[in-house]
Formats: sequence, structure tokens, C-alpha cells
Amino acid sequence: MTAYSGKNSKWLQLPLRPLLVPFITLFSLLVCYTCMNQISLDSKTVTNSIPPVGTNRLIENVCSTSAIPPEEMGYIHFPQPQTYDRGECACTPVRYFVILSMQRSGSGWFETLLNSHPNISSNGEIFSVPQRRGNLSIIFNTLDTVYNLDWFSSAAKNECTAAYGLKWMLNQGVSRYQKEILSYFQANGVSVIFLFRRNLLRRLISVLANDYDRQAKQLNGIHKAHVHSKEEAEILAKFKPKLRTSSLIPNLQFMERTIAESLHNFSTIRHMVLYYEDIINNHKELKKVQEFLKVPVRELASRHVKIHTRPLPQQVENWGEVQETLNGTEYAHFLNYNDYHS
Ligand SMILES: *[C@@H]1O[C@H](CO)[C@@H](O)[C@H](O)[C@H]1NC(C)=O
Ligand SMILES: *[C@@H]1O[C@H](CO)[C@@H](O)[C@H](O)[C@H]1NC(C)=O
Ligand SMILES: *[C@@H]1O[C@H](CO)[C@@H](O)[C@H](O)[C@H]1NC(C)=O
Ligand SMILES: *[C@@H]1O[C@H](CO)[C@@H](O)[C@H](O)[C@H]1NC(C)=O
Repeated sequence: MTAYSGKNSKWLQLPLRPLLVPFITLFSLLVCYTCMNQISLDSKTVTNSIPPVGTNRLIENVCSTSAIPPEEMGYIHFPQPQTYDRGECACTPVRYFVILSMQRSGSGWFETLLNSHPNISSNGEIFSVPQRRGNLSIIFNTLDTVYNLDWFSSAAKNECTAAYGLKWMLNQGVSRYQKEILSYFQANGVSVIFLFRRNLLRRLISVLANDYDRQAKQLNGIHKAHVHSKEEAEILAKFKPKLRTSSLIPNLQFMERTIAESLHNFSTIRHMVLYYEDIINNHKELKKVQEFLKVPVRELASRHVKIHTRPLPQQVENWGEVQETLNGTEYAHFLNYNDYHS
């Protein structure tokens, strides 16, 4: 028998007893009401943005947003991952981003730079796997998982990540489901970082060289799209592709059109445009990215080593023909254009 059992506590047998229960109930309600009022006074109750398009998840959160300017409210989130607890960082606001790019435009390198920041997590080319982009529902499911911080990748950070995203190539479903993806970004406050390459001829050479290595596997039988040493870079750069001159201009035109279209298609989304060459030449570009993602500005670093560092004429087997094809066209400037100030 505990001391609190009805039998032992005589005072509860008093005539007042029937009054006690309603009184306690009333008092509790009052305390509760005051308490709730307090919460909504010093921190606005935030409904976790608009529910993701794919599901109808609606997570209620009580985190202080008093330091967040009203115009940014649509871009901050307080995800509640299912696979772990954000712990004391549950109320660290998270901003969602996506890097929209094209293959061989420096996005792998760019991601390693971003991931060297303690508060940024960029989770790679998730949609390079065809099964993840077969239809819209699987795409939305994948995005929901990523933006709920439940995606498992080597870029996964600690619980205090403040900017979370992925890179996504335009030809991996973005162009195909453009309208629906635009709506998803709008509904979920996803910011877009466009990353393109100015010199599309160099991009083409890199695409061909990378395609070649996919077959030839020049580094001890392993295909590598990115390398971490000068030696490896030199081996990969030894291969000089031969460019089909008949399709050269149509190819460049297609790339140009795709870039212009995507900028137009997503112009209503909060975005910034970056060019690979500008990041190489000017580290202020990386400062701009961090400001865009609203994370503390830091020096960012990458271990990636550039593969093609030689002058263009030494990178292509039929340089003379390429020169002739582009000479006098609007693409002539690609011929004598350096990535670097060396
Ligand atoms: C960045 O991460 C650090 C370390 O986890 C954390 O202490 C800090 O609060 C985070 N900053 C922001 C702005 O999220
Ligand atoms: C979408 O793709 C996934 C994975 O391939 C599949 O399981 C699902 O049935 C598909 N849904 C529709 C509506 O086609
Ligand atoms: C732009 O949008 C149109 C219409 O939705 C679509 O057909 C096209 O593929 C999109 N292109 C890109 C690069 O997003
Ligand atoms: C480019 O074309 C001009 C004439 O249009 C010619 O004089 C020049 O030699 C050409 N250059 C090359 C590298 O083919």
C-alpha cells in the first residue's frame, strides 16, 4: 500500500472531496492555458512550411523564429528526421537547396567545396540512378526523404546542418518533369543554384574523355570521373578525343539552348547562377554561395584535382578541323579561352 492510496489518506474522506476533483481539473486547465499563451508569445508556432507535394506530411514544430526576417519564413524548415534525432539542433533552421547542372561542369568539385563547410550538406547526384527518377511519385518520395534529412550519404553531417541539398543534372528528369518539379520547389521553399560552364567546347571535350574512360578504365581498371592526384589527372588527360565536326555546332547549340531554357523555366524560384570558370578565378563566388545559403562564410576547400589543364589544342586529336569549323562562328571565342588565370 502506498501512502497515497485512498484508504490511508483520511483527509480525502472529508466532505470536501467531491469538490476537489473539479477544482484540480480547472486549475490544471488554467495553468495549461497560460503556458500555451506564453509559448505563442515568445515564439511563433511554426507549421513546418507547406507539406511536401509527394506526401501530406504535416509536422508541427515549436521553434523560435523571432530572429528570422518575415520574407525568409518560406525558406526555413525544422525537419524531424525519422532515422535520428536532431537533438539540441531540432530548432536550428534548415534551408533546402538544389544544384541544377549538367555533367562535366565542375559540380562534383563544387559539391566537395560545399561539404567542407560544417553547416552545409550536399548529398550528391542522387538521381543518377534511373530507378529513382522513373516517375514523379518516386521522384517526390526521394526528394521528401532527402529534405527530411533522412538520406544516407557520405555528406551527411551532424544534427546542426543548416543548408541541405543535392545536385541534379538537367537530363535526369528535371527537364522532363519541369512543371511538377517547379511546383515542388515552390511549395517547399527550395532554392536553386545553377552551375554551368562558360566554355561549352571544353565541356564537350570533358564529356567525351569521361565517356572514353568509362569504357577504357584507365586508372588500374577503374573508371574515375574525378581524381585526387596530379598523376591520375595526367593519365586521364593523355586521352585526346576526336570531335565529330559535323555535329559540333549543333551540339554546342543544344547545350546553350538547354542552359537558357532551364534558367527561363526556373526563373520564378529563388536562385543564383554560377559558372565553373568564375569559381576557379574568383573565390568571392564561394562567399556569394554561402551568403545565398545563409551560412557563416568560411574558406572552402576541395581535394579534387583538375584533369584537363593543358592548352586546348593539346587536348583534342583533330584540333585543326575543330578550329576550322568554329572559326568565324559565334563559338569562335571558345577556341582561345582559358579556364584559368595561371
Ligand atoms: C554550424 O554547425 C556548428 C557545429 O555543429 C553549430 O555549432 C552551429 O550552431 C551551426 N551554425 C549554424 C548557423 O547553423
Ligand atoms: C513509380 O516507380 C516506382 C519505382 O520504380 C514503382 O514502384 C511505382 O509503382 C511507380 N509508380 C507509378 C505510379 O508508376
Ligand atoms: C523547360 O520547360 C519546358 C516546358 O515545361 C520543357 O519542355 C523543357 O524540357 C524544359 N527545359 C529545361 C531545360 O528545363
Ligand atoms: C579563320 O578565318 C579567317 C578568314 O575568315 C582566316 O583568315 C583565318 O586564317 C582562319 N583561322 C583559322 C585558325 O582557321
